[in-house]
Amino acid sequence: MLRSYIASLALITGLLTGSTLGQTFANNVTGISGTWSTGSGHVRTGLGFFNPITKNFTMPSTSGTSYSFTDDGFFETSTFTYKSNPQVNRCFTAALSWQHGKFTFNANNSLSLSPFPADGFVQVISPCAGQTVQMFHYSQFELIPMWNIYTDPHPGFQSGGGSAYAMTLYNDGGNGQAGAAKNVMWLVERPPAMLPTEQLYQEVLNSVGAEGSGDAKS
Ligand SMILES: *[C@@H]1O[C@H](CO)[C@@H](O)[C@H](O)[C@H]1NC(C)=O
Ligand SMILES: *[C@@H]1O[C@H](CO)[C@@H](O)[C@H](O)[C@H]1NC(C)=O
Ligand SMILES: *[C@@H]1O[C@H](CO)[C@@H](O)[C@H](O)[C@H]1NC(C)=O
Repeated sequence: MLRSYIASLALITGLLTGSTLGQTFANNVTGISGTWSTGSGHVRTGLGFFNPITKNFTMPSTSGTSYSFTDDGFFETSTFTYKSNPQVNRCFTAALSWQHGKFTFNANNSLSLSPFPADGFVQVISPCAGQTVQMFHYSQFELIPMWNIYTDPHPGFQSGGGSAYAMTLYNDGGNGQAGAAKNVMWLVERPPAMLPTEQLYQEVLNSVGAEGSGDAKS
């Protein structure tokens, strides 16, 4: 169930992403460190989104994605997706995911994001399903074949003018080649808003280890 859910999330994400393949790595105008967020910027990394001690998520007011990076090679990601049910309003499906770990700049300008598998979680909320709230371990390695940072003169998240740094990450289109662009993210905090960057937990319980697509915990 989780696997097909994640597959459909990937599909939704793919449909929402624009095609901005024209931008190149040469557009990098500032460092990668900071917290980057899509859209209205409501989804952010850090304690406001996920509390790793209580393992509680706080649902943001709008869906979105956030990536944070440090100068010393750590990353954190938060995603919140929301799928309404046009037939029955109360039967939405929401998913919140959080993970963190280490990233490396590869020789071919790609980025590798390697999460700490024991720390990541995804929570799926579907009020009309038998079990309305489910938590799973979540650990998704990600290769970002291409990425670029540029100055956006008209950032979508603010109407009052003023430019902002924007970042486009690309999905792995297969064989490490750049595929579709992810939704553009804007720099919303620097230094980044992140939870402690070290690994917090030691073991993954009941790991099923299926390509990191989310290991059932309970
Ligand atoms: C991007 O550019 C900034 C500013 O010139 C630099 O500090 C940073 O290292 C660059 N990042 C990469 C990956 O080249
Ligand atoms: C965590 O979530 C549960 C269920 O929503 C809630 O009862 C509990 O108060 C939350 N704990 C904290 C610390 O927010
Ligand atoms: C770029 O480097 C990464 C890491 O070594 C590798 O996984 C990826 O396949 C490479 N991309 C291409 C197009 O060869």
